[in-house]
Amino acid sequence: MTQMDIDLENIPEHVAVIMDGNGRWAKDQGQVRIYGHMNGVESVREALKAATELGVKYLTLYAFSTENWNRPKEEVEALMNLLVDTILNEVNDLNDNSVRLMAIGDLESLPEQCQLALKEGIEQTSKNDRITLILALSYSARWELVAGMKKIAQAVKEGRMEPEDITAESISSSLSTAGIPDPELLIRTSGEQRISNFLLWQIAYAELYFSPVNWPDFRKENFREAILEYQNRERRFGKVSEQIKTH
Ligand code: FPP
Repeated sequence: MTQMDIDLENIPEHVAVIMDGNGRWAKDQGQVRIYGHMNGVESVREALKAATELGVKYLTLYAFSTENWNRPKEEVEALMNLLVDTILNEVNDLNDNSVRLMAIGDLESLPEQCQLALKEGIEQTSKNDRITLILALSYSARWELVAGMKKIAQAVKEGRMEPEDITAESISSSLSTAGIPDPELLIRTSGEQRISNFLLWQIAYAELYFSPVNWPDFRKENFREAILEYQNRERRFGKVSEQIKTH
């Protein structure tokens, strides 16, 4: 397949990815799980490059879930170190490619080193505008929704908001993705077909694409395949086919 097949006029503005299968990939190679995560970094570069080349404006990656804290201590520590190293190593490349870094999730729960690296990466890339790379870290959709509902309840309690003011828009604005368009496409790798507490509110209308490829094997071509599949689907938003056909 070539990039020629892709309609550059119909690129999703926001693509979200559940990077899965690092552990299984490593096991298949007779290696420890962290070896899979280390190799997954190259796949992050590939997905980011493919997204940037196609004109995607936001790429959100599920790098560490709230539930991932339950993994063995060594794996959690190794993942955090990998994140710190990767962010610090990649900042120049991110700037060269005008990539803006952002993070969503319970960032205060991350080790201090990780918070510092993120802060550094976010500050140093804040002026870039070609694409925004959003890392979901210590993130879960239910955590985010609970935090958002608390903000709204507090605003109502303090009289800054009336219950009637609660709308889909005000709920969106209370989430960590406030101001970011909802993803039109969600990709999950490794053949698993679950959402796993990722962006539950935001993916209301997203196309779901499940790739059998384990994340460390995921390459630009696989990303393009997902975009192509997205373009071949008809997005109806609850309407009937005839209402959306413009030609
Ligand atoms: C899921 O595979 C992957 C993760 C929980 C971590 C993803 C992290 C990276 C690719 C590292 C670098 C990321 C950035 C953004 C710098 P799994 O371990 O759940 O695999 P399994 O289901 O086969 O066990």
